Amino acid sequence: MPLLSWGSLFETKITEIDNQHKKLVELLNQVHDAVQNKKGKEIMNKALTDLVSYTKTHFATEEKYMTQYNYPDLAKHKKEHEDLAKKVADFQQKYAKSSDDPLLVQELSIFLKSWLTNHIVGTDKKYAPFLISKGLK
Ligand SMILES: [Fe+2]
Ligand SMILES: [Fe+2]
Repeated sequence: MPLLSWGSLFETKITEIDNQHKKLVELLNQVHDAVQNKKGKEIMNKALTDLVSYTKTHFATEEKYMTQYNYPDLAKHKKEHEDLAKKVADFQQKYAKSSDDPLLVQELSIFLKSWLTNHIVGTDKKYAPFLISKGLK
């Protein structure tokens, strides 16, 4: 069973953003799947790296549009992205030093599930009407 399922609650109605969010949910579910099926450190690392690298791509896309259209809440939004990136980087360091401990990754995926849900629904959805009013679709 997936850890997180896509639902209309997540929709910003901006196609590129919604597609990226769907992909993030998919990559998070892959991490979860690696934990559930005890796939081992190598596969787990690969799933994590994929998620982290796509998260960076996604944050860059959002920040590009918010900058381009002078979104008033850009600084606050960016700070949320930066805090998350730092937390995940710290985790990756900790995980690299640990023995193969799926529980560590499970903890992270549960944290990411709630972070992603709260951030999309509570923070990303706030820029949606603004960016749509500037012509994004
Ligand atoms: Fe987002
Ligand atoms: Fe965001």
